[in-house]
Amino acid sequence: MFESMSENNESESGYSYSANGALTLPAPGQAARRASTPTPAKQVSPAHAPVPLRAASPVRAASPAWAATPQKTVAPPPSTVPPPIRMGTAPIAQAVNVVKVYGKGDTAVTALDGLSVDFQPGTFTAIMGPSGSGKSTLMHCLAGLDRVTSGEVILDGQDITKLSDRKLTAVRRDQVGFVFQQFNLLPTLTALQNILLPLDLAGRRADQALLDQVIDSLDLRDRLKHLPSELSGGQQQRVAVARALITSPKVVFADEPTGALDSRNSAALLGYLRRCTDQLHQTIIMVTHDATAATYSDRALILSDGRITQDLARPDVDTVLRAIRG
Ligand SMILES: Nc1ncnc2c1ncn2[C@@H]1O[C@H](COP(=O)(O)OP(=O)(O)OP(=O)(O)O)[C@@H](O)[C@H]1O
Ligand SMILES: [Mg+2]
Repeated sequence: MFESMSENNESESGYSYSANGALTLPAPGQAARRASTPTPAKQVSPAHAPVPLRAASPVRAASPAWAATPQKTVAPPPSTVPPPIRMGTAPIAQAVNVVKVYGKGDTAVTALDGLSVDFQPGTFTAIMGPSGSGKSTLMHCLAGLDRVTSGEVILDGQDITKLSDRKLTAVRRDQVGFVFQQFNLLPTLTALQNILLPLDLAGRRADQALLDQVIDSLDLRDRLKHLPSELSGGQQQRVAVARALITSPKVVFADEPTGALDSRNSAALLGYLRRCTDQLHQTIIMVTHDATAATYSDRALILSDGRITQDLARPDVDTVLRAIRG
């Protein structure tokens, strides 16, 4: 467990994320008080309003109904349909010479060893590498879930390593979305309440068009009143994805989002994430052990001992497997 998180993640509204993605509720009444002073609803961005994510999107043959195109067209896998990568734009996220050391003295572990990397907006990146290579640590440092030991993390132009805990909490709440392997939904809240939780606790109203689009494109409409225990694993993960997207975050961070899903649900979820990048220009950074999952990305970074050893554009399975084997 990441020891620094319990002190860093307490939000102004009382809810908090831990480094493993657990979301805890505020004290009774606290959320309601926040929600009673809402900020004005955000304008619907043109990118969000009319784009049905099911339409005109590459879908694999094995995808479940919610991911299929109405015409049941089987398009080539996503890696063969490269999205436009905007060259020359400022990175949306950056690590600059980041060092992360856990512990002290004899027990110190260097999880990130002077790592630098840029992420362009509207791109989908897979982070891969052996267990213990620093994948989750990198993601947590980029997302402001954990503090670096030295170096800089720049999110949308802002160096978040210099922020107070309070401001860092606001960055986590407003600028990033999280999806984790074990879904981390609150068991006592319905699917809809889980989706809306980050907004409710921040005192923000949902962008109704975006909410409808996310619910329908993830085929959650008839599951909204159900508790997580009444949902399948795939449905729970789709609720978690909806929760990550509903704040229109600058970056969605996903740590092994398909790790607890079967291959059919994995393919459908990865296809959905791919379409979020292609159609909504959503930046996604995903940790995965699965070479097939990496083929949905624009780029695969291979980590070893806290450093990036390979940076692969539009990776295919063979290239990824070769890179991982070194
Ligand atoms: N809270 C912690 N305290 C001490 N060491 C830690 C802590 N968290 C991670 N580490 C160590 O830091 C290194 C990188 O861990 P990290 O969780 O980032 O690896 P990973 O690449 O995500 O591995 P996995 O694929 O198993 O999830 C490992 O050696 C790990 O043991
Ligand atoms: Mg990990």
